[in-house]
Formats: sequence, C-alpha cells, structure tokens
Amino acid sequence: MASWWVLYGCIIIVCGCIEVTVQEKDTDILVFTVASNQTDGFKRYLRSAKVQGFEGKIRVLGVGQPWKGGNMKSVGGAYKINLLKRALKEFKDDTQRIILMTDGYDVIFLAPLEAIISRFKLFGARILFSAEGFCWPNKSLASQYPAITRGEPYLNSGGFIGYASNIYSVLMSFPVTDTDDDQLFYTKIYLNPAFRKKHNMKLDHESEIFQNLYGAVDKVELRFNGNEAYLQNTAYDTVPMIVHGNGHSKVILNSLGNYLASAWSAEQGCLNCWDGTVELFNEQPETYPPILIAIFVDRPTPFLQEFFHKIYHQAYPKSKLHLFIYNSETHHDYVVEEFTENSGNEYKSVKIVTASDRIGLPQAKMLAMDYCLQKECSGYFSIDSVAHLDNEHTLKLLVEQQRGIVGPLLVRQEQTWSNFWGAIADNGYYARSADYMEIIQNKRKGLWNVPYITHCYLINVTLLNNFETRPVYTIDGTEPDMAFAITNRYRDIFMYVNNRLEFGHLINPETYDLRRTNPDIYEISSNKLDWQKRYIHDNYNDNFNVDHKPIQPCPDVFWFPIVNLRFCREFIEIMETYGQWSDGSNQDFRLQGGYENVPTRDIHMNQVDYERQWLYFLKEYVRPLQELVFIGYFHDPPRSLMNFVVRYKPEEQPALRPHHDSSTYTINIALNQVGVDYEGGGCRFLRYNCSVTDTKPGWMLMHPGRLTHYHEGLRVVKGTRYIMISFIDP
Ligand SMILES: *[C@@H]1O[C@H](CO)[C@@H](O)[C@H](O)[C@H]1NC(C)=O
Ligand SMILES: *[C@@H]1O[C@H](CO)[C@@H](O)[C@H](O)[C@H]1NC(C)=O
Ligand SMILES: *[C@@H]1O[C@H](CO)[C@@H](O)[C@H](O)[C@H]1NC(C)=O
Ligand SMILES: *[C@@H]1O[C@H](CO)[C@@H](O)[C@H](O)[C@H]1NC(C)=O
Repeated sequence: MASWWVLYGCIIIVCGCIEVTVQEKDTDILVFTVASNQTDGFKRYLRSAKVQGFEGKIRVLGVGQPWKGGNMKSVGGAYKINLLKRALKEFKDDTQRIILMTDGYDVIFLAPLEAIISRFKLFGARILFSAEGFCWPNKSLASQYPAITRGEPYLNSGGFIGYASNIYSVLMSFPVTDTDDDQLFYTKIYLNPAFRKKHNMKLDHESEIFQNLYGAVDKVELRFNGNEAYLQNTAYDTVPMIVHGNGHSKVILNSLGNYLASAWSAEQGCLNCWDGTVELFNEQPETYPPILIAIFVDRPTPFLQEFFHKIYHQAYPKSKLHLFIYNSETHHDYVVEEFTENSGNEYKSVKIVTASDRIGLPQAKMLAMDYCLQKECSGYFSIDSVAHLDNEHTLKLLVEQQRGIVGPLLVRQEQTWSNFWGAIADNGYYARSADYMEIIQNKRKGLWNVPYITHCYLINVTLLNNFETRPVYTIDGTEPDMAFAITNRYRDIFMYVNNRLEFGHLINPETYDLRRTNPDIYEISSNKLDWQKRYIHDNYNDNFNVDHKPIQPCPDVFWFPIVNLRFCREFIEIMETYGQWSDGSNQDFRLQGGYENVPTRDIHMNQVDYERQWLYFLKEYVRPLQELVFIGYFHDPPRSLMNFVVRYKPEEQPALRPHHDSSTYTINIALNQVGVDYEGGGCRFLRYNCSVTDTKPGWMLMHPGRLTHYHEGLRVVKGTRYIMISFIDP
C-alpha cells in the first residue's frame, strides 16, 4: 500500500512538471516590480509570491539603486516606467509573453500565476489595468472615461497585466521624466481612444484580478475557506487575486496581510511566525545578541518593585544586557535605587537618568538609543513601567522572533485595554479592528502587523543604525509613542505584536495617587491580581481546599489566614501617618447618631479614604470565607457601615468591656504580633468562656455579632496592639 502511494506521488509530480513546461512555452510570463529597499512590505510581497509558487518569476527593478521617482506620498513614480522600459526592451517584439507589473511595497499575491493568467485571458484584452473609485491625480479627466454601468471606473497603475509587445509600445508612446506621475502617464494613454483600441486596453472594473483597497474597504471582506483566508469582494461578487494597499489603505492592507496568502489559519494558527526565526540555547550564553533594556518610569506606577523583579528575572544572560533607566518620578527613586544597588552590577552596564537631570521623555528615548549604539547593542528593548513581563522568557522569545519591531501582547487585567491598536480612525487615533477582541483574548494567536504599538517592544539595531529608519519620538504636538508609530507607518516599517504565548500584562496607573501613604495598597480593584500577589496571605487559597477543615478556636468563631505581613505593616503605617485616633469617649462625630456605646480608640476606613477599597475587600476575599463556614447565608455584596482599625495600649485604652456588635457577623484581623509588638490582648467570648489570645498577624477571626457571641477585648499590658474590624450586614 505504502509503495503505491509513493508511486502515485511520483506520477503526480511528473505530470505537474510536464504541464508547467507546456504552459511556459505557451504563455511565458514575467512578473515585475520596483523596489529600491527591502522593506517589510516588500518582504511580504516576496513571501506571497513564494506561497503562490512563483517566486522565481519575479524580476525586481531598481534594487539597491536610489529611488528617483520623487515623493511617492503624492504624485510621482514615473521612474518605474523608465525602469520597466529598459527591462522590456529585449521583449519588445514578443507578442506572446505576458508581463505582470505591480507595486512592491503594498501588494500581496492571493493566487497562483496560472490562475491569474487564465482569468486575464478571459478579458480578451492585450493590456488590463487595475481600477479604482478615485480619478487620480487629475480629477477633471474623469469625464473622458468611457461610461460603465458597474464597477470601479478609473485606472490605477499599481497593477497591470498584458503582452510584452503592447506594453513596450505603450511605454514608448511618449517620453516621461522619472519624477512625473506614472498613473497620469498610463491614464492619458488609456483615455486616448486610438491607443486604447490599438492595444485593446481594458480596466479590471470588478476586481476580478486586481483589488485596490483605497476607497473600497467597505467592498471587501476577509473570509475563511476552511483553513485558508481569502478576500471576497462583496460589491461585485469576485475573489480578487492581487490586493494593493494604495493611497491611505496601507493599514488595512497590513491587517489583511496578517491572514492572506497563508499567513494565518484557523486550525494551525500563525503560519508566517516561523519565517526567519532563530533559536537561542541556554548553554550558549555567548551566542545571545547584546540588548539594551531601556526602562521608562515616566509616570507614577503601582507595583514598580514587581516590575523590576520581572525585568531581573528575564531568562537572558545578564552579561549580554545593558540597562538604561529613565525615572521622572522622584517618589520612585527608592525602588529604582534598591534595584540598581542590589542587581545593577550583574548587568554589563547601567545608566540612570533621574528627574534631577531634567530630561523630557522624548529626549530620554533618543538618549537611550544613542546609548544602545554606543554599547554596540544588537537590539533595543524599550519597556515602560506599566508593562509587566510575567513570562521570564519574553525577551529571549522576542529576539528569537527576529523582526524589525516586535512587542509582546500586554492587556490590562479584566479590561480590553492593550498595548496595541488594531486600526486607525480617520482622525489618526484609536479604532477597533474586527479582530481586536479575538487577539487580546488569545482566541487568535500569532504575530500581528499593527499600526500602533506602545509600552514594550524590541527594535533591531539595523533600524537604529540608519537615519532613514531610526525611530522618531518627536513630532510637535504628538505623544512620543504616537510619533513613533506614525513614522514607522509612513516608512513602511512593520510593528508586530506577538501573542503566540502569554507574556504578561499592563498595570493600570489611572487611580494611583502618590499623595496617599502606601498608595499601592489602594490599588485593590484597579490592579486586582497584582494587589492580590502582593498583599493576600500565601495560604489564603488553602482555605477553600475541599479537605481543609476551617480552624475554630471557639464555638462558631472561625479563623482564616487572609492578608500577609506586608499588608499589616503598610496598614498600620497608613493609620499612624494619618494619626487622628478617636478619643475613646461616647461622643463620636463620625457616627450618624453622634454617640458610641462601646467606644474604642480607632480610625475609620473612610477617614483614610479606604472605604470603597475595604468594601471591595469584603466582597472579594471575606464573603467567600463566610459562605464557606456559615452555610446558607448569602449577602453579595456584604454591607458594612463600621470599618475601622483599633489601637489598644496600656496608657491609652488597654481593653474593651463585654458587648454585642451591631452586625450579622464580625471580622477581626490582627495586624501585629503578640509577644513581639505587645503583650496581653485577645478576644474572649463570655458565653463559652473561650478566649483567642495567640492571634497571628494577617489572620482573621469571623464570628456572629449578636446574641450568642457576647465578647470583650482583653487587656493589653505592654506595647501596642492593632486590629482591623468590620461589622458586616448590620
Ligand atoms: C531606501 O533607503 C535609503 C537609505 O538606505 C533611503 O535613502 C531611501 O529613501 C529609501 N527609499 C525608500 C523608497 O524608502
Ligand atoms: C487636468 O486635466 C485637464 C483636462 O485635460 C487639464 O486641462 C488640466 O490642465 C489638468 N490639470 C493638471 C493639474 O494637470
Ligand atoms: C538584528 O538583525 C540582525 C540581522 O538580521 C540579526 O542577526 C540580529 O540577531 C538581530 N538582533 C536582534 C537582537 O534580534
Ligand atoms: C473560664 O476559663 C478559665 C481558663 O480557661 C478558667 O480558669 C475559669 O475558671 C473559667 N470560668 C468559668 C466561669 O468557667
């Protein structure tokens, strides 16, 4: 059986060869384009030709020669005509050979040549031009076009196909200088009825072969046929074979290019991700290219210690890493110094720019790139303080990806805010692309060419070396990262965002308020997971293990680890910095009735602006524990009007007389350590004659508030005891 298959395979191949040879004789074809530079767009063009199996037919004109066609952002480009003229001279009398000419930087082939040729032949034309909806560059020529009933009316010279002899003769019809406009040249010839007839010139009005995207974005749809993406023209019900991102449609072309020509498939995911990648091996640190990590702390940022921690733990040999740290926030000096003092000398070099250097962000970015070149880096890794690299292999994987500019996908937790834009609105700002949600949710994984990337990306030094390609962060009135993206788009430099794996996330700095004491502890809801990692007790999750029996030091009094020592320390600091403890009398202006029956020396959460955060804490971390031990009671969210920290000390208020709480249940979190910070203290439940005295910081007692759990605060005999109390569901 196996040999039969092999044999069959051979026959197929032989047939294929014969067929191709026959066809070659029949209709020999050459594909021309003009490209002075190997831009990313041009690499994409070549890749698509390769995918369609005709890479070998491509003749690139103008390689390595300076571009002479003027500023292509407006008119120009007749240089292409003159190049083609020279190239076609040898075929000037060839009436059989087919020539396909397209632009190079903004074109993708969507079909094999054989298919393009057969479709061309169906037109019965000697030369077929692509068509578009704009009469460019001279609008007033529109009236001279032959009337049509359907399709795009006007000639576009970004793609045409025809017989060599006819094309040559058209090219020779009148002289042009390099900086003239090529489209105007072909338009004039087409609009001349005699020429049009003589060369049997037609336009591909309905995009049967050529799809120009500018002005036609609403007429095309990306579709999938099983695994393969294709472009459907829904206006004319055609499936174009060559797509051209003319005019202002480059961003759309780039987005389509993420899928078309076998770039991505639903089943296999990213197919072009492997192009040109390398592999770096742990045991060969000397082979890792040297990288400058440029860190920008340009705004108050929560969880900065963790940020540096994750930089430090990147699995990349430190002997190959240089650091440039820009910190414009004096408040963060401590964290930066802590990091550089502890770890700085493990890196090849460290350069720090602080607020006292009075350097603006765009200027700092220029300095960092200079520093990279000075240190002979191979890659420039720019990262802002909000970008957390949870995956320690991020930098290594980005290097292995080998792209000009490539960054990891980073998304804010529980939000749709990420470090890239999928599309650009007409005003130049954010627009959501059709695939944006699928990318940020990792439903589509791959390497995405995007119009805007920020916060974290690796740039190959080849782009830094060349003045024409070196990133620009300074455009008047524009944010540095906007300037960066705008210039890259203009220069046809692709920016890739990578979500082949999970790399990390973005911190949300919006609610961060440096005027607070220990401001990170306020970030409980805006940066929940980071907060949780920093402040929740290591054993918190064990509370929920099925075989875990909750600790019950007294009847119906439950005891749980909930927050860690750092939380406790920072919370006491917040209270002591605020300092306005109540006087322990029955008069309490903070209460609605102004009267407190069982007063303590305390500070309410709302006095330190922590009320909202505290209620969130009750909902997210306390309520689940309550539901675990007091079964059948559900109150979501828990309500609580009395949330406060109590301070007991012998010379102030050492104890609290027996009382009930006005709560369904009460929580009591110890914030410091008995036997170390104070002696005595604890809580006694009178009905059971049961006391909890060996309280542990970060552990929470939970008990019913009324009737059964009449309780008192035991006397502190030395030092200061702090506890955090809430009366839940009063
Ligand atoms: C190609 O690169 C050269 C420098 O290497 C630059 O001068 C030229 O403007 C670039 N041409 C295009 C079309 O981008
Ligand atoms: C545009 O075409 C019209 C009609 O041929 C001509 O009169 C006019 O000079 C052209 N405009 C430019 C700017 O070339
Ligand atoms: C930069 O590009 C060069 C040439 O393609 C490559 O050898 C080098 O590894 C790249 N550097 C990085 C850091 O990716
Ligand atoms: C309460 O318990 C303490 C010690 O556990 C004991 O000394 C005392 O006698 C008990 N009181 C009553 C009334 O049972």
